[in-house]
Amino acid sequence: MISIAVHSYKGGTGKTNVCINLAAHAAISGKKVCILELDLDAPNLHNLFKNDKGKWINDYLEGRVNLDDVLVDASRAAGKKKIEMKIALANPSIDAVRRNMSADRNQQLLALKRLMAARQSLEKFDYVFIDTSPGVNYSSINAVLSADRIVLISRPDTFDIDGTKRMLSEFYGGLQKKAGLVINRAVGEDGGAAAKSIDMPLLSIIPCYCELAHNRSNGIFIADNPKHEFAGHISKILERTLLL
Ligand SMILES: Nc1ncnc2c1ncn2[C@@H]1O[C@H](COP(=O)(O)OP(=O)(O)O)[C@@H](O)[C@H]1O
Ligand SMILES: [Mg+2]
Repeated sequence: MISIAVHSYKGGTGKTNVCINLAAHAAISGKKVCILELDLDAPNLHNLFKNDKGKWINDYLEGRVNLDDVLVDASRAAGKKKIEMKIALANPSIDAVRRNMSADRNQQLLALKRLMAARQSLEKFDYVFIDTSPGVNYSSINAVLSADRIVLISRPDTFDIDGTKRMLSEFYGGLQKKAGLVINRAVGEDGGAAAKSIDMPLLSIIPCYCELAHNRSNGIFIADNPKHEFAGHISKILERTLLL
């Protein structure tokens, strides 16, 4: 099993979209895939995947249930073709979000221990994709620490690039993680310039696609549009991430 966390400095860079499309791409290619939604500050994926278990990854991280108790079936997520995909969803209730944000040091450490221990239940998958919250709050740090590979996403935006560089030198620098860069929502030549300014192996420069924006996060884009250029970027990102 190889786990891949999708992370960024800022929100809205395209983490969730890239994460679920990477997962769908791997699953459609015949791999056994799991998604962990670790953006506990702003859960999204309950909009796309039905939680018929009524348990959340928060319950696992807080020590109340086993991981298998929260893994929801997502085998129909790519349309007609059945895929091998499960997902652990984050609890979207405002109460759960607030509890996560105010977690003390002991609770944060327990969550990290639980995440590390999850590896045992996750060994049955080929790939585990982890959607994270932006920046360096405790849940994204835990996600990054637990992952084998990191896909770090930045838009070609001055604030975003500056934050990504600082996060690289001040946080990633000491971790010795296998990490690669995706520049997302590039327009014209700005993606190439952004990629050159960030000292990381480049995985892909994804243009800004109106079709993706218009999709309004209403599904897994490559499942509905397998021939779209974006699917080629997703395939390249996975291939290069595995070679890091
Ligand atoms: N390459 C792209 N072109 C156009 N829109 C994009 C692109 N990548 C992501 N988006 C859109 O940007 C918005 C934010 O993406 P999302 O994956 O939710 O970001 P994050 O998880 O980092 O907050 C979504 O509406 C998504 O469809
Ligand atoms: Mg997100």
